[in-house]
Amino acid sequence: MGLEDKWHKNETIYSMDVETFYDSDGDGVGDFQGLIDRLGYLSRLGVSCIWLLPFYETPNLDNGYDIADYYQVDSRLGTLGDFVEFTHEARARGIRVIIDMVVNHTSDQHPWFQAARRDPDSPYRDYYVWTDEPAQAPDKDTFFPGEEEDVWNYDEVAEAYYYHRFYRFQPDLNLRNPDVREEIRKILGFWLELGVSGFRVDAATLMIDQKGDLPPLEEPHSVLKEMKSFVRSREGDAVLLAEADDAPDELEAYFGEDGNEMDLLLNFVLNAHLTHALAREEASPLVAGLERLPDVSGTGQWANFLRNYDELNVGRLSGGARAEVFETFGPEERMRIYGRGLRRRLAPMLEGDPDRIELAYSLLFALPGTPIIVSGDEIGMGEDLSLPGRNAVRTPLHWSDDPNAGFSNGDPDDLVRGIIDEGPFSYEHVNVAAQRAEQNSLLDRMSRLIGTRKECPSLGWGAHTVLATDSDSVFANRYDWEENTVVTVHNLAADTATVPLDLGDPDDPLHRLVGAGEHTRRDDGRVAVELGGYEYCWLRVGAEHATRHW
Ligand code: NOJ
Repeated sequence: MGLEDKWHKNETIYSMDVETFYDSDGDGVGDFQGLIDRLGYLSRLGVSCIWLLPFYETPNLDNGYDIADYYQVDSRLGTLGDFVEFTHEARARGIRVIIDMVVNHTSDQHPWFQAARRDPDSPYRDYYVWTDEPAQAPDKDTFFPGEEEDVWNYDEVAEAYYYHRFYRFQPDLNLRNPDVREEIRKILGFWLELGVSGFRVDAATLMIDQKGDLPPLEEPHSVLKEMKSFVRSREGDAVLLAEADDAPDELEAYFGEDGNEMDLLLNFVLNAHLTHALAREEASPLVAGLERLPDVSGTGQWANFLRNYDELNVGRLSGGARAEVFETFGPEERMRIYGRGLRRRLAPMLEGDPDRIELAYSLLFALPGTPIIVSGDEIGMGEDLSLPGRNAVRTPLHWSDDPNAGFSNGDPDDLVRGIIDEGPFSYEHVNVAAQRAEQNSLLDRMSRLIGTRKECPSLGWGAHTVLATDSDSVFANRYDWEENTVVTVHNLAADTATVPLDLGDPDDPLHRLVGAGEHTRRDDGRVAVELGGYEYCWLRVGAEHATRHW
């Protein structure tokens, strides 16, 4: 694969759920037609890749991560025809689509599971993981403490226990079974034909983990490698983005060798450290996070994010760091979940301050990897803590201050989830229409950042270095690629800070690409960058005319 095929290195990914984006037919649920209608918004925002959360036929007990038919669109959202119209329209605007692929488990309503539980001799029995007698103290924990107690559930019809790492209605698939792996290939092939550019592989870590009493896979990573080689054989530049929330020293293995496994890995380690840095308003936790990560520059790419539709998981931080994050960003018990996470949006964590939110996103965009924005963060939406669990961060997008926030013209009682209509994050204050009309709104600033990231391919391709600064609150880094050098400097705290930076040849001109502050050459050749509270800047080092902008 040539450099030019690795499109995912320089895209900004917008992660979204069809059901909460835009409702075109007034039934209260967002749908594919609504998404098609509002593609212009995403185009203007500048995102070049959409990651769609699960939209398949589902009992919908885990926001669609419980799939009952991999070949059908949830009828609330539209039809397969609407889906194809959508990928077509997105492509026409230069926007790629990657879709969630949940094949660690199915819904218990999936016909495979229904056949498996009814008949021990069914070929589907071995699609799942069974035991007559589970160990008293299984060595694996449920992922949802407080909501589930065990990883085994007794099925009366099967007269056996089945294994599930998530909810009991999500039986784990047996990935040792070659027939299951064949099914997965078929599903991937189907959606590639319908125009997608890749998949977000749900629960990749668990897919390759030992399941229940089954022997471990002989070569666990072969499951993921098979997926990659199949996808590549069908669509050369399609990518796999894995959810691998694994220990830092296990992460490099997911990239395989020479691009034969995952292309992108959701960067949970950096997410937790970045959050800690924002909480402390200091750069050191971020630097520590970068140091914990393996160097994958030759093999793969991180997918960096600030928030997603799940809990903000700080479980991989040390106890002290976790406590600091909870104290700053989750002071109330109801803001926390599973003992490891926050069920909050970014904007309220940063007190709705557009400067701090912009700073946080600029920092995200400046870190080595592909940035992901979760829908709603581009306008600084808040959470609804009255909703259960992770639904707090899954409310419909605020389009305007019209009824139902312009999301739907249906009956408010029919909405898929209520609109945030109280407090500073109410739809009357935070919405797309108001921010579209206002210069320098958060939406405007996000769009500028996305554009700048696109203009700087050296961030995707270049060698990354963290620059030493003598200020606790300032994080500075640089990227070098061919004749391009980009330096970014971020002040995480409220007080003004000035940092002298050694940027090499004192004759090199400097151009500000985005951000604020002042930069001046000192007599000693170093560059002093002065940033006000929560300010940042990105500088291009070197002659402008010598630079390739593409
Ligand atoms: C990860 C998803 O992000 C989460 O929402 C879901 O509950 C689990 N996987 C199970 O599929």
